[in-house]
Amino acid sequence: MYFHFRCDDQGYDLLAGLFKRTAIEEMLHIERISERILFLKGEVELKASAEVSKIHEVKDMLELASKMEQDSARDYNLWANECAANADSVSKKLFEDLVLDEERHYDQYDTEMDNMAKFGDRYLALQSIERSKNISMGNAE
Ligand SMILES: [Fe+2]
Ligand SMILES: [Fe+2]
Repeated sequence: MYFHFRCDDQGYDLLAGLFKRTAIEEMLHIERISERILFLKGEVELKASAEVSKIHEVKDMLELASKMEQDSARDYNLWANECAANADSVSKKLFEDLVLDEERHYDQYDTEMDNMAKFGDRYLALQSIERSKNISMGNAE
């Protein structure tokens, strides 16, 4: 969400929207995992896994975000195996579903990194111009 705020503040609507939608999906992951933990009579510890990195450069945001997606996909894959080893097919399936989401997130960030590499600052400038156009035409939210 920090990356969403930062991009939104600079008028990069496309990237701001991508970061926001992804953050909401991650929140839903927490919900699904928490529900499963409660079903298994566990306790839910809600703690941030890391400090928020105060990154301002879009390229650096995308690099960190895609690395986090890869790390999550790896962890969920390992945990799916762990669940299989403990004969818990429902938790296994849950983690497998999450891997699918993380790989899709990774793919979206990877596409944006390609766009940044190809078009550089012009890519960001276009997004700002688009925002201004929408505002001047009364299409802004
Ligand atoms: Fe996730
Ligand atoms: Fe993700």
